[in-house]
Amino acid sequence: MARGRLAILLLGGACLFLGVNAALLLLDLPALLDTQRLREVHGPLMVVGFLGTVIALERAVALRRAWAYTAPVATGLGGILLVTPLPAPTGLAIQAAGLVVLVAIYSAIWDRAASTAVAIQWLGAFLALDGTLLWIAQVPTGALFPFLTAFLVLTIAGERLELARVAAPAPQVSRTLLLITAITALACAAALLWPAPGARLFGISLLVVVAWLVRHDVATRMIRSTGLPRYTAVNLLLGLGWLAVACLAWAALGPVLDGPRYDLVVHAIGLGFAMSMVLAHAPIILPAVLNRPLPYHPALYAATGALQVTLVVRVAADVRELGLVWQVGGVGNIVALALFVVIAAGLVVRR
Ligand code: HEM
Repeated sequence: MARGRLAILLLGGACLFLGVNAALLLLDLPALLDTQRLREVHGPLMVVGFLGTVIALERAVALRRAWAYTAPVATGLGGILLVTPLPAPTGLAIQAAGLVVLVAIYSAIWDRAASTAVAIQWLGAFLALDGTLLWIAQVPTGALFPFLTAFLVLTIAGERLELARVAAPAPQVSRTLLLITAITALACAAALLWPAPGARLFGISLLVVVAWLVRHDVATRMIRSTGLPRYTAVNLLLGLGWLAVACLAWAALGPVLDGPRYDLVVHAIGLGFAMSMVLAHAPIILPAVLNRPLPYHPALYAATGALQVTLVVRVAADVRELGLVWQVGGVGNIVALALFVVIAAGLVVRR
């Protein structure tokens, strides 16, 4: 079983690899693979192909039902099909099918033990499905990006709510989060239909989610501990910081659909928020998925530091519109992710 899970994880890893290839092309730099299609599918490869596969795999492991594994297989395989000569909607449709199964996984988890956290994650998966269907309908990525953002944020928010329950918060605390995330979901639709006010509402509602997490997440206490809990908390809080940057940009600028500001917003989410969450949770989730421990080691901070520094360089270049510095920052982002993969693999093997 662990081998099958490893194979699925490698599907997600292949999407990350292809997405990074596409990123190099988008940075106007040479890459191992070079096709026009690759440039166009960087978003679906990264968000659904890589992150969607990792999330769905972790949820399938939690549900412990064979059918649930079709979700990460479809999101990963669909991503790889996107770079083949098959029409792009084929790969996207397979990814959408995987997301339908992810929604079904949350429904099954709900049947087993209903909770506000599961409801929020269900909503996140449903929004990812909406975003992918919009891709199939050829809506530009910038216009549907709030749906993808909400998928990532609601998935993490639900998971953090589960952990916050250790501190036994009052029931209205979790109900408040459910209400804010429901408003965020409506704001995704508003941003698509009425971009100017909708994108601002989306930014503000997400900012309230960030405020909730900062106020109630165990990370604000764990930052004062040591070892793995502190490492997780540092990455988590940095990720929330980047999420706040994107929210403020949406709230202040409204819809951001192209140019350097688009690059800033998309990667404050995709790298600053989402990849920080991957770094934060990998030592906890990987052992559950692969039955092999990823022991904590302070060397993991090297990848965190590299990601933060290179992202600051990239964002500064976006603000000042400095093309060369932007390329340096982008390559630095890739190096930071590669550094994490190497350190994590080294720690697993050494163990
Ligand atoms: C590994 C480092 C990465 C680099 C160097 C990179 C590079 C780029 C570049 C150069 C663009 C074009 C920006 C523009 O049109 O203004 C882009 C777009 C985008 N990136 Fe990344 N990216 C990276 C990682 C990620 C990650 C991890 C995600 C999401 C999880 C992501 C999601 C997106 C999305 C959604 C777009 C918009 C695509 C579109 O409009 O078609 N990127 N990226």
